[in-house]
Amino acid sequence: MTIPSLPPLTETSEWAALVNHRPQLEELPLRELFQRDPQRYPRMTLTAAGLTLDYSRNRVTDQTLELLTALARARGLPERVEALFRGERLNTTENRPALHTALRQSSDAPVHVEGEDIIPAVSATLTRMESFSNAVRGGEWRGVSGEAITDVVSIGIGGSYLGPLTATHALAPFQSDRPRCHYVANVDGEDIQATLKDLNPATTLFLIQSKSFTTQETLANARVARQWFLDGGGSEATIQHHFAAVTANAERARDFGIAGNSIFPMWDWVGGRYSLWSAIGLPVALAVGMPRFRELLAGAHAMDQHFRQAPPEHNMPMIMGLLGVWYLNGFGAESHAVIPYDHNLRHLPEHLQQLDMESNGKSVCQDGSPVRPHTGPIIWGGPGVNGQHAYHQLLHQGTRLVPVDFVLPLTNHNPVDGHHAMLTANCLAQARALMIGRSEQQVREAMIAQGTPEAEARRIAPHRAIPGNRPSNLLTMERLEPATLGALIALYEHRTFVQAALWDINPFDQWGVELGKEIGGQILQALNGDQGSDSALDSATAGQIARFRAVQGEASASG
Ligand code: F6P
Repeated sequence: MTIPSLPPLTETSEWAALVNHRPQLEELPLRELFQRDPQRYPRMTLTAAGLTLDYSRNRVTDQTLELLTALARARGLPERVEALFRGERLNTTENRPALHTALRQSSDAPVHVEGEDIIPAVSATLTRMESFSNAVRGGEWRGVSGEAITDVVSIGIGGSYLGPLTATHALAPFQSDRPRCHYVANVDGEDIQATLKDLNPATTLFLIQSKSFTTQETLANARVARQWFLDGGGSEATIQHHFAAVTANAERARDFGIAGNSIFPMWDWVGGRYSLWSAIGLPVALAVGMPRFRELLAGAHAMDQHFRQAPPEHNMPMIMGLLGVWYLNGFGAESHAVIPYDHNLRHLPEHLQQLDMESNGKSVCQDGSPVRPHTGPIIWGGPGVNGQHAYHQLLHQGTRLVPVDFVLPLTNHNPVDGHHAMLTANCLAQARALMIGRSEQQVREAMIAQGTPEAEARRIAPHRAIPGNRPSNLLTMERLEPATLGALIALYEHRTFVQAALWDINPFDQWGVELGKEIGGQILQALNGDQGSDSALDSATAGQIARFRAVQGEASASG
């Protein structure tokens, strides 16, 4: 199937129907919708793959949802989902399919790329990951001095970093004492230095995670790690005991000195930000063991099946994607917050930020024409409750509308007495406070009842009033465990896809990051003293380069 070009979303009759419908919602604040309809919560709650989405606190009625799902059908969403799973080349600028779903499929059902079934290679890689992680975790994999591995350092950036980082922390309760997993991404030398400071080269294993094996930051850190190992008693011949790689560019990994049997494959048809499910997930397997990693895949697969099979009205990623577009394009909301009430999920917003913003930060449609209206929102967030004492003020009383996803496991692995009830109470309170707000009149009356003089109550009330009517989703699960984590991350991958389909953009390329990389290379040459390379630069950049050189020169003269 070739995906047909679509007219701009906001020029469709389905969108016009939503715009016409919107004024009705202005007269119906959320608290009133709840008062009128006691069945609103059960009706607007959906369970799939171990996750429950309560979307009742959104600015929608049944009619809004009908109009939104009609929009989804008119944009060909179900057909696009099929095309995704079948491996059609939806990444049209790189002429590739996006088959992260094939990495977590539980059966041997063939999936073809260029006429070849990719599933045997996926299964074989999982088997290799299993042997490798068992050997390291079991202590059979020995380092240069014959000791077992105590620490694994994963070196990678972007999609080769954020997914495994998020999952390793999320699954901390499932980790054994050995090996400890560390992550290095930043090219600021502080990152790798601080990580290596307390490690022993004889018992440390490095995983170089890079689909391309050309990423400047990753290679710079990998070279530091290599030298640290050699300086710490290692040798060229023993590098193979301490370095493994995950890459689609095996040749470059071999040139780096990594033995062929320690190179795990990546494929063109897996995008970096969708690669947690590939061998890029190896640090997670090392941390929690391969059976747990397979449970993570199974949870994601359960969400895939739901996404592929459920009709739009009962489809969790579709509902979430449609609601996001409703706020972004219908209400002008510029950002979207993700706030997990689970300390172990503290890296989730970072991962989703890359997933969504690198995917949907696009300005043209599939056919190259300018996209209208706005695409991907700014994704941000952090762990609840910490944000309540920081940025939640803006959520409650700021002038912008910020839809929020709250994520809440209903049980916690940590038995500290009473804390989980407090965490849960805070999460539910935030969702309710955003929804009901507090009117000026309510504030005034309460103040007067407490003895505040009326004039003073009138003066203060506007500052203390909270508008309310601010939307949120509440995503719950019984327990945060590998399967529910897999389902959660897959849910957001599909939500991102839904929105891209509605806007008719390609979520699987990322040309925007290339220009910065190119210019970065040019500037690095200039910083390193290549006088010729800064002649084409603007005066501000050239001026800063001159300053850098001067300050560095002074520092080395005085040092
Ligand atoms: O920052 C852009 C990017 O291309 C991401 O999409 C990717 O995940 C990351 O760089 C790292 O790339 P690689 O895995 O090739 O080192």
